[in-house]
Amino acid sequence: MKKYFLLLVAGAAALLSCQESDKALADRVFDIAARQYAAMDANLSETTLPRTIESDTLKLSNPSWWCAGFYPGSLWYIYLRTGDENIRELAEKNTRKVYPETQKARSHDIGFVTNCSYGNALRITGDTAWRQPVIDAAHAFALRFNPNVGCTRSWNFSPKRKQWLFPVIIDNMMNLELLMEAHKLCGVDSLRDIALTHARTTMKNHFREDGSTWHVVDYDPDDGSIRMKCTHQGYSDDSAWSRGQAWGLYGYTMMFRESGDKAFLEQAERIAGYLIGRLPSDGIPFWDFDAPDIPDTYRDASAGAIIASALIELSRLTPDRKAAKKYLSTARKQIRTLSGPEYLASPGENCNFILKHSVGTLPGKSEVDVPLTYADYYFLEALLRLEGKL
Ligand code: GLY
Repeated sequence: MKKYFLLLVAGAAALLSCQESDKALADRVFDIAARQYAAMDANLSETTLPRTIESDTLKLSNPSWWCAGFYPGSLWYIYLRTGDENIRELAEKNTRKVYPETQKARSHDIGFVTNCSYGNALRITGDTAWRQPVIDAAHAFALRFNPNVGCTRSWNFSPKRKQWLFPVIIDNMMNLELLMEAHKLCGVDSLRDIALTHARTTMKNHFREDGSTWHVVDYDPDDGSIRMKCTHQGYSDDSAWSRGQAWGLYGYTMMFRESGDKAFLEQAERIAGYLIGRLPSDGIPFWDFDAPDIPDTYRDASAGAIIASALIELSRLTPDRKAAKKYLSTARKQIRTLSGPEYLASPGENCNFILKHSVGTLPGKSEVDVPLTYADYYFLEALLRLEGKL
């Protein structure tokens, strides 16, 4: 009996020693990322950025697409990890492409576009030449705030069938980081106050009893009353669209980090509890937690990467050490799945994107089971956070 036990222990130890270390895994992924993203740049013009794959070919976007900041942002992350000066030049060049987008807020996405590009350029290099567009963009974004509602407006468009007046989507929590960053840079209190008010209003109106979130809440801009709660990218109005849950987790974790308001930490922990309870065993969510055809439907690597990055951050912020361990082990599992052959591209394939298998908008039949720049961005960010480099 004792002999079998010893054999078992020896076997487990051998298995453990075979497992790739976090550092070796990050070395491997960043090597691929650097090769893929450097090769990607050769396909771009002065005004185009990568978007996804369509009909087996690279699909580009112009800088006004909501994802325009993620490619330059990923290049900054690769530069941070590798110190490769060629990558730094690409990061600078691709950051400058989105400059016009930092001057006018077509939508709340000015936060994603600016903070991932110029925001990272400033944080990673410390060069103040990157500072002013961050401040300009925050002021432009702040013009979307309506004090009757207590939120910044997400989109200007309204689908005919829904007739929105003032749509606010959970994704918008991510854009508050731009306001908090700019407040630190220029000291204008209204930028921070708008972010705090938006986060509190969203906490009150977007979440369900079980900790999941609606995608869209539409408000009456005159009196702030709620007109409808619904979805745009999820399976149904009452389902839990995976990326929406991921944005919520990341957004409240970030707002606690930036403000120290414990209500945001509690909200982030509620969302984390909900997510961990519903993730599949490999950690990568299906595109909607309530998709009726699970498991015969698409995974969303982007949601997996965003959740992993947020959970690592949350594990560092929560005083609950037991919860922290759970957050970290979940994130590690997600990162390991994404770093395996099912999700991680080999050099030269996947039109030079890093990850495969994300979903943009399944109900709109747009970007289904394809690479997406934000999946790559939050995956690299998660790895940097795991190593304590961010
Ligand atoms: N913010 C849009 C999306 O997550 O698809």
